[in-house]
Amino acid sequence: MNEKRSSVHGEWSSGLIFILAATGSAVGLGNLWRFPYLVGENGGAAFIILYLVCILLVGLPIMIAEVTIGRKGRRSPINSLRLLARDEGITERWSLVGWLGVVAGFMILSFYSVVGGWSFFYGFEALKGSFTDITSDQASGLFEGLVASPGLVLLWHTLFMIVLFIIVAAGVKKGLQRAVTLLMPLLFLLLVGLVVYGFTTAGFGDAMAFMLQPDFSAIDGGVVLMALGQAFFTLSLGMGAIMVYGAYLPQSESVPVSSGWIVGMDTLTALLAGLAIFPIVFTVGLEPGEGPGLVFVTLPIVFGEIPLGYLLGIVFFVLLSVAAVTSGMSLLEPAVAYLTEASDGSRVKAAAIVAGLIWLLGIAAGLSLNAWSGFHLLPDMGIFDALEYVSSNIMLPLGGLFVAFFVGWKLRTVSVAKELDTHNHHRLFLLWLYVTRFVAPAAVLFIFLQATGLLGLLSGGE
Ligand code: PFF
Repeated sequence: MNEKRSSVHGEWSSGLIFILAATGSAVGLGNLWRFPYLVGENGGAAFIILYLVCILLVGLPIMIAEVTIGRKGRRSPINSLRLLARDEGITERWSLVGWLGVVAGFMILSFYSVVGGWSFFYGFEALKGSFTDITSDQASGLFEGLVASPGLVLLWHTLFMIVLFIIVAAGVKKGLQRAVTLLMPLLFLLLVGLVVYGFTTAGFGDAMAFMLQPDFSAIDGGVVLMALGQAFFTLSLGMGAIMVYGAYLPQSESVPVSSGWIVGMDTLTALLAGLAIFPIVFTVGLEPGEGPGLVFVTLPIVFGEIPLGYLLGIVFFVLLSVAAVTSGMSLLEPAVAYLTEASDGSRVKAAAIVAGLIWLLGIAAGLSLNAWSGFHLLPDMGIFDALEYVSSNIMLPLGGLFVAFFVGWKLRTVSVAKELDTHNHHRLFLLWLYVTRFVAPAAVLFIFLQATGLLGLLSGGE
């Protein structure tokens, strides 16, 4: 037992490609769309501080744990967990954690694809020059018109899913690797360009102040849970996306070093997105607390007013679309890898089935914003909002909790140390092991209990 396995799906050509692919998974709508509006709505710097604490204490250690499982198992998350459990002589039911991830992936991609479709749509509108001198009423009208139209929402959602299907069906080397080698340099170039522009605007100082001055009065248990959920969401943790990418990582590459790079790049991108977006929002005197409409309503108004706005609008929405595609494909991959392993090995067929099912669920998510808006899945939440809330704030942290527990307590320490190649960094390894065993699971549990109000009940409070 425990001989080195090899991946049946192929491997990345180098460690750098793995970092690019995993960064591509991590950097997405979570950084460019969700992070800025969460910061805007939840106390600016106070939210950023909480989020950074979650990234460091929970995100990085769990990222290392996920990549470790992937690279040891070399299969889809479901089968990697099953194989590693078998190696350890413990119940193979641990593969259920992989199934939890597959379900979370279905849920996330169904609404992610709807928003990815909006990014495509806005890319086209930017090209057509639709933002030139647009008034705030017209900008709201454009967004509301899109969201209210089942035809438009479903058309762009479908196109988004077709792009993902084409990439994932082509395989690890010819599909995923080719896409990230092409798209990731473009993504960084576009983002840096926008930040440089933001730096030259009059609103840069206000944006810095907003991102640096904490308003702690905005923080409560719910906001802490949101920061934790965002940490998992933005790092693509808790559902097997990073695990399956880890399964394709060449054996010679360092798991902790690669993970550090991915977490660092993702965090940097989220902060840069803030530095790209808030300066131009402040420059034209608009509010940062606009919620989900921040990039789709506020930014077009800004692009319609500022010098070079036509070009910047195209750059921004191409950036958003690229980031959404490289993340979306990683949401598809765990289930596609599993189905390929479980069937006759045809990846194209597996990709068609998985993408097809998620496309169907996405239709429900899309329609819940218009034709089915009266229908609530949870109190006050339609299908779209419920899918987003449950998957990112509950399922991802829960998946991460199991991953930390499995690697920290169930795998033998020697075999984990061997996989992580810790000879010269024994102290760092022990620190990571301690955080993975105690700190990360305790933090997730604590935040769960607090957000659900159970902690107050347990301590006899109100
Ligand atoms: N990390 C992506 C983002 O920030 O947009 C979203 C995501 C991708 C979440 C893959 C989960 C995942 F497995």
